[in-house]
Amino acid sequence: MTSTLLQVESLNVRFATPEGEVAAVSDLSFTLAAGESLGMVGESGSGKSQTAFALMGLLAKNGRASGAVRYCGVNLLSLTEAQLNERRGAEIAMIYQDPMTSLNPYLKVGDQLTEVLRFHKGLDRKAAFAESVRLLDAVKIAESTKRMGMYPHELSGGMRQRVVIAMALLCRPKLLIADEPTTALDVTVQAQILKLLADLRRDFQTAIIMITHDLGVVAGVCDKVLVMYAGRVMEQALVDDLFGSPSHPYTKGLLHAVPQMHHQHGADRLATIPGNPPNLLALPPGCPFAPRCVERFEACLKPAPLQTFDGARQRACHRSVAEIAKAGASEVIA
Ligand SMILES: Nc1ncnc2c1ncn2[C@@H]1O[C@H](COP(=O)(O)OP(=O)(O)OP(=O)(O)O)[C@@H](O)[C@H]1O
Ligand SMILES: [Mg+2]
Repeated sequence: MTSTLLQVESLNVRFATPEGEVAAVSDLSFTLAAGESLGMVGESGSGKSQTAFALMGLLAKNGRASGAVRYCGVNLLSLTEAQLNERRGAEIAMIYQDPMTSLNPYLKVGDQLTEVLRFHKGLDRKAAFAESVRLLDAVKIAESTKRMGMYPHELSGGMRQRVVIAMALLCRPKLLIADEPTTALDVTVQAQILKLLADLRRDFQTAIIMITHDLGVVAGVCDKVLVMYAGRVMEQALVDDLFGSPSHPYTKGLLHAVPQMHHQHGADRLATIPGNPPNLLALPPGCPFAPRCVERFEACLKPAPLQTFDGARQRACHRSVAEIAKAGASEVIA
């Protein structure tokens, strides 16, 4: 697991709006090796999906990505649409947060699945059909052959999400970006899908970027984690280190605040922290988390650059690791 598959360097995503420029992702860097799994966590609006869209070259029209996204050494940000299309869906696949983003409402499920295999793999109709059914079975869709003849609106939300997952896995991508892939699914199916993703990693060395609100999913699936806040990385660590000794007050807050279990599908299972994220149109000059952080002091009015410690870990905080370790859970959050 040493060859670097993806290297993201100082990625910035900006949106032009009538109110001004929205800084959705700022100075984001990370690497991913073949077969490695990276979790991205952070509250709503922290820039997780826009990072994924920037990687895929699919930002909204008013969005612009700068920096570099090197996939097997090639900067994806400099490719043409045609060059991107060769890779998207085949080598790099994405499971979107909203399944209808990837499904065409006017095409039967089977046609949408087989089209991917015919386009990218050159399979004939029969082979593409058989392989599509196999994938639907793999994501636990009952009566898979019958479902091939149905339109997306004829399926339940959970089933649509599984079709989207099957579609993303069809070409056995080298890199899979999964944006809240199991949020809409019940716990049993969720476990089956996570197992499927783990198998894919083991069997095909697929690297996975797992975007999720669910820290349990991160613990179960990922090797390392990026904790995002206001479009910035607050902390980056191996999963065990992050859960064992969070080094940033924001991470500590996420781990300790009480999960909102009454949200049936877990959309808000991420702990809630009092207060709100800053306005991305006018970010404060210092640490963006400072207004919500009880550990803040004068230094926090200045930017807290991401710094490496303990070899492979990174954190953006003016307090020392020891100070954060000492702070009681309840004291961390304002
Ligand atoms: N086209 C756009 N124009 C302006 N701002 C945008 C646009 N698209 C996204 N944003 C803003 O970018 C920020 C980051 O959004 P993003 O979708 O990445 O959040 P997220 O971390 O995925 O949140 P969630 O957990 O709710 O899915 C948000 O403040 C959002 O409003
Ligand atoms: Mg999102």
